[in-house]
Amino acid sequence: MQRAYYVTTPIYYISGNPHIGHAYTTVVADVLTRTARAHGEAFFLTGTDEHGQKVADAARAAGKTPQEWCDELVPRWQALFAQYHVKYDDFIRTTQPRHETAVQAVFERLRENGDVYLGKYEGWYCVADETFWLESKLVDGKCPTCGREVQWLSEDDWFFRLSKYAPRLIEHFRANPDCVRPRSVYNEMMALLEEGLDDFSISRTAFDWGIPIPGGGGVIYVWFDALLNYITAIGWATDRAKFEKYWPASVQLVGKEIARFHTIIWPAILWAIGEEAPQQVYAHGWITVDGQKIGKSLGNAVDPIALAQRFGADAMRYFLLREAPFGSDFSYSEEKIVQRYNADLGNDLGNLLRRSLTMLQKYRDGFVPAPPQPSALGERFADLPQRVRARIMDLDFRGGLETVWELVTALNRAIDEQKPWTLHKEGRGDELDALLYDLAEGLRWLAMLLHPIMPERTAEMWRQLGIDGSIAAHWDNALRWGNLPAGTKTHVGEALFPRIDAIEPAS
Ligand code: MSP
Repeated sequence: MQRAYYVTTPIYYISGNPHIGHAYTTVVADVLTRTARAHGEAFFLTGTDEHGQKVADAARAAGKTPQEWCDELVPRWQALFAQYHVKYDDFIRTTQPRHETAVQAVFERLRENGDVYLGKYEGWYCVADETFWLESKLVDGKCPTCGREVQWLSEDDWFFRLSKYAPRLIEHFRANPDCVRPRSVYNEMMALLEEGLDDFSISRTAFDWGIPIPGGGGVIYVWFDALLNYITAIGWATDRAKFEKYWPASVQLVGKEIARFHTIIWPAILWAIGEEAPQQVYAHGWITVDGQKIGKSLGNAVDPIALAQRFGADAMRYFLLREAPFGSDFSYSEEKIVQRYNADLGNDLGNLLRRSLTMLQKYRDGFVPAPPQPSALGERFADLPQRVRARIMDLDFRGGLETVWELVTALNRAIDEQKPWTLHKEGRGDELDALLYDLAEGLRWLAMLLHPIMPERTAEMWRQLGIDGSIAAHWDNALRWGNLPAGTKTHVGEALFPRIDAIEPAS
């Protein structure tokens, strides 16, 4: 069977409202899947992580049962993703029976093969990160990841024999230098592996909001439960054909704070049940405000819904991918969004469309003339789609957009240098036809190349260009210079990105 490209995001804790960090990872996954789909089959999974003490505490504070709380809140994530034009193929909730029964099956299998055993856990626990910590790892007695208070646990727990997998993990890292990206995270994880690994507790007894351990004795630790979502959703327990089509995942996107779970613990769990490790885990950086990671509990959450209302979801998608190299942190500010919006989207792209269509209207009644033979622009950019695709599939979104902008810049320059108004005045009709064709064709290319990043605005470009049907999905056939039929009737429409002048309050 043909293997498909499989992308995942972390599943989100629903302990408050979704924030811009959640929109970020999910938009990235959407862009990757849409680009992959321009060439073949792809599958995109996201969802919510509903068990654990953090969610239970939030529910209790709101006076609800955890299940009621989750059922009420999950639609907020789904609405956010819909607002950001995210098209996932499946949305998994860890309270769904399809997930719970599969997690119990994994647990039983590991208990049978000896990779899960009973022991005593004594140590520290951070509820905010749902993470066990050795005393030696604490920083000033607090959680090394988030800096919050930790609590002392003393429980009879089930342990996963992680230590046994350390040599295989080291071997795997050495043989697959791209299994963890970027390189800085790979090195950090390798250093942890070289320090040696301890077995870790995968159950909780003092607490009951989780998947029950088969046969009793508490609930399964939320991270053990959560990691398995990536395979339970694609039918690990129920549909082997589907599972084999998608697994191992092509790329698993995670924030850098959860790289350890995904690059060390996760492959070991998979090997313990006889499955392969994901092909790549990409740990990206944080969106920060004043140098701090944005997150609900830090009290500086930026409301992604208000931002999309103000700037448009597509402009926000563009900003998130264009502003910083994927992998590094980037500091967020509204000024930066306004700046990118007006310069790149309003001026470079939006005005290009408007100027070109206005000239087509004025000089050719809106009809696209015959293509020039040959077209210098067409020849120069023949390999552009391949170059853009290579960058994006390598998760270099900024580079991919810079590559697309080579064409935006070239088209703007062609107008400035060839001065269509002069060509018209001097009666140089053939030259004017050639230029107008190249502009319309270049805009068609831009709509297609940018479609994975700005699905809605590019569909509007497509409408204004007057091309039949919805925006073409497959690049290979459609992106040949000269494919735009002569005689296509274009029309000047609304401004793609109306200028935003001042910084107004977000609501
Ligand atoms: N539930 C766990 C993940 C389990 S996956 C098996 C979790 N959830 S989370 O809601 O706290 O965070 C999920 C993800 O949101 C992060 O890994 C990251 O991808 C994204 N982000 C959260 N805050 C972020 C920023 N400030 N900036 C960028 N992305 C961030 O961890």
